[in-house]
Amino acid sequence: QELKFNLEQIEKGGYEHFMLKEIYEQPHAIRDTYRGRLLANEGIIRMSGVENHKEKFLNANRIIIVACGTSWHAGLVAEYIFEDIARIPVEVEYASEFRYRNPVITEKDVVIAISQSGETADTLAAIKLAKANGAFVFGVCNVVGSSIARETHAGAYTHAGPEIGVASTKAFTTQITVLTLIALKLAKEKGTISNSDFHYHLEQLELIPDKVKQALKSDEHIKKVAETYKDATNCLYLGRGYNFPVALEGALKLKEISYIHAEGYPAAEMKHGPIALIDEQMPVFVIATKKGHYEKVVSNIQEIKSRKGKIIAIVTEGDVDVKKLADHIIEVPETLESLSPLLTTIPLQLLSYHIAVMLGKNVDQPRNLAKSVTVE
Ligand code: AGP
Repeated sequence: QELKFNLEQIEKGGYEHFMLKEIYEQPHAIRDTYRGRLLANEGIIRMSGVENHKEKFLNANRIIIVACGTSWHAGLVAEYIFEDIARIPVEVEYASEFRYRNPVITEKDVVIAISQSGETADTLAAIKLAKANGAFVFGVCNVVGSSIARETHAGAYTHAGPEIGVASTKAFTTQITVLTLIALKLAKEKGTISNSDFHYHLEQLELIPDKVKQALKSDEHIKKVAETYKDATNCLYLGRGYNFPVALEGALKLKEISYIHAEGYPAAEMKHGPIALIDEQMPVFVIATKKGHYEKVVSNIQEIKSRKGKIIAIVTEGDVDVKKLADHIIEVPETLESLSPLLTTIPLQLLSYHIAVMLGKNVDQPRNLAKSVTVE
């Protein structure tokens, strides 16, 4: 028993839980994921899985992304990037819905399947359906040789290393990294991005691991914020644009490890009903970084404040406007709007981790959950 305990401690690298270790591994995991692919000096992105099937992507009617859970949230971020930068129509589907709703799929469709484990039954079934209808299927997996990696026509691995914690963290940021590289590569091929913007994106992506490291330095501050809100029974997460999927992901993290109900919402959608929920018992986590509709998010925050909502805002370092309004702010370094999900998700991962630990939950193996859902 002693040996087993020690082995596990070694595996955890001195961290109390695998989830915390994996949150802290993200600078390394993101760098490992773009190594050999992101050649900023040469101004190229090298991805043979995309290169060898370039025509499929460039001539596609649309890209259909199929995934579940956190991987589905990464797919939503990809939708913003692909449409905004590469001008390719994208739709994101829950694999469990897609496989049963008799969707229209043609050989002009490219399907991207995202799965950390590469064993998720719903995603695998969606892939088989897409293939049966002639679509080209590209996989983004974290486990080499997994069922999904073998079932897809081509793919690109995330190099996050084994993710043990049931709550997905480094898989999410490395999935977004791979999808961003693909979108940028296709945008360059299609000429939907200028040379200078392309180079700038590469340079900014190369800086992300250090900026993630910077974001992780707020851990102690985030722990104090977690202390304040650990007894909440409901929480709201709000974001706009590229950070709307991050709001959904932040809510999922809290739900699955602390068992506190949480809901992610597009910030502007609040006035269509959910703002009725706001009172001093409802903590609202708002992603309010400098780029991307900042002024509109500030007015959303004012609407919540006037209803006595408690506001915890994820802001860009040096922010002053939101600082005056929010009850707490958590700063992340500035980056491009399209890359901001890679940073804004970090405080939300840490927040749910600390709340779950303070509540004495089994962080690495939450109740009722499996790391890979290999059944329907
Ligand atoms: C996320 O924290 C959960 N562990 C879960 O939603 C997970 O993302 C989902 O089951 C998909 O798993 P996959 O990426 O291995 O396919």
